[in-house]
Amino acid sequence: MSKLLVISLVVSSIAATAVDNHDYPGRSAQSVLTTARNTQQQVGWYDPRSLGGQLLDFTTPTHGEPLNVIVSGLSDPDILTEAGFRDYAKSLGYSEECLGLHIGHIHEANLGDGDGKKLEMYLARQSYFPVWGTCWESLAGGQHFRAWKQNGTLANSGAWFIGASKELDSRNHHTIVPDGYNLGRDWFVDKAIEGSHWKGKWWAAELEWRTDLLDEGSDGVNHGIPQDGRVAILRVFKI
Ligand SMILES: *[C@@H]1O[C@H](CO)[C@@H](O)[C@H](O)[C@H]1NC(C)=O
Repeated sequence: MSKLLVISLVVSSIAATAVDNHDYPGRSAQSVLTTARNTQQQVGWYDPRSLGGQLLDFTTPTHGEPLNVIVSGLSDPDILTEAGFRDYAKSLGYSEECLGLHIGHIHEANLGDGDGKKLEMYLARQSYFPVWGTCWESLAGGQHFRAWKQNGTLANSGAWFIGASKELDSRNHHTIVPDGYNLGRDWFVDKAIEGSHWKGKWWAAELEWRTDLLDEGSDGVNHGIPQDGRVAILRVFKI
């Protein structure tokens, strides 16, 4: 078999198994569904495990933090761009990393998209205080997330894979609080579901929980902090 054929077989088999299988309850759902039907792309995200990836990042070679939120590639095309995603994060109450105050290191993740392990593309922290913004949060600790984009050539869904958590303050070297992975994920998800806006752009999201992507517990999890294994799939749309 030619190399090309093998690759296309692999890709089509992932496409067949890893799709957004939402139920789309509610009224706004119908319009989202219609939009999806009218676009070329029908796959919101690919299961990273299909091509050797995983839903834990690589904080160290052996331990990682859970990628506990996926923003589907079937979301508003604007927020699938880097600039649009920044705006979306700000609408949720995060702001960008305070330069110079970041303590910690860049994490890698393997999203099974053919890129292997790649560096996080974005890190956002909760904005506590309008004047000091992120800098204040960097001292006080709080909500933050890292994001990677699934856009390698073997699984180019455009989805954002997000590791959200709640940290202690920076004097504690940004350690995750007990239950900090679940709390960080739920904070992100609650804000997304409530609906948010930034600079005249308004968004809402539909949520699906997946329990089959990540093992519950603390095996391989950074800081040995257990998490419940649930991954939130969000499909964010403009309202
Ligand atoms: C994937 O997305 C990131 C973030 O938007 C971007 O920097 C990178 O160039 C993209 N890669 C490809 C192959 O398009």
